[in-house]
Amino acid sequence: MVNHNLPPGFHLVVLDTVDSTNVEARRRAEAEAPDGTLIQAVTQTQGRGRRGRHWESPTGNLYMSLILRPDCSVAAGLDVTFVSAIAMCDALAAIVPPLVGVAAKWPNDILINGRKVAGILLESASGSSGKLRWLVVGVGVNIQSFPKRTEYPATSLNFEGAVNTGPTEVLGGFARCFKRWFDIWGNEGFAAIREAWLQRAEGLGEMIEVRLPDERFTGRFVDLDESGSLIIELESGERRSVTTGDVFPPELI
Ligand code: BTN
Repeated sequence: MVNHNLPPGFHLVVLDTVDSTNVEARRRAEAEAPDGTLIQAVTQTQGRGRRGRHWESPTGNLYMSLILRPDCSVAAGLDVTFVSAIAMCDALAAIVPPLVGVAAKWPNDILINGRKVAGILLESASGSSGKLRWLVVGVGVNIQSFPKRTEYPATSLNFEGAVNTGPTEVLGGFARCFKRWFDIWGNEGFAAIREAWLQRAEGLGEMIEVRLPDERFTGRFVDLDESGSLIIELESGERRSVTTGDVFPPELI
């Protein structure tokens, strides 16, 4: 029996192969699976990334999706993206060798030494009142391997020197950190999460390129606002808020 050392409130389901743990979590959420159900798969045949991208899912990496039923609006539920990113930063920082930098890249990537090691995909369903019915937090972590041809360079925990780790340890670490930050969000609201995320943010104060579906522009990443939008200062001094898109540092432009 594998010991994930999960905190109370998590109900772990481990599957061998599944199409996508997010899709499986959605199915189970619709079938009334309880809050805290955590689906982990050894491999996925149709792993999903943001913006309809494919998420490569070979054996040896972590694929998991957590079903939550917080009593909040759909908009407030988006805060959980940042809760998850902080939790994953903290979980990975405890696993990688000392001095290896783990950071959060807006909106929902985790970087090690500037390369993507994990991605987060939130999906939700709302009721007629605009309240969340369920929220699925899907997380993929490159542990043994990483994809080689990606728009943003990738890495893995093994490649970055964390050689004695695996999906079980990473999942347990994430669950414990997630519980801590989810409780802080519940008690103190998004202000505490925003501050913690900014402390872990990649490239704060630096120039970045923002890529939107129909536009690209460059500016300085100066803040995250109270709704989770990125605040970019343009050369003119004007500030622009970005609610969706991808960001890249100057060396990747
Ligand atoms: C991204 O960076 O684009 C988000 C990637 C999210 C991938 C994870 S793997 C587990 C879960 N199941 C999926 O199909 N996707 C998420």
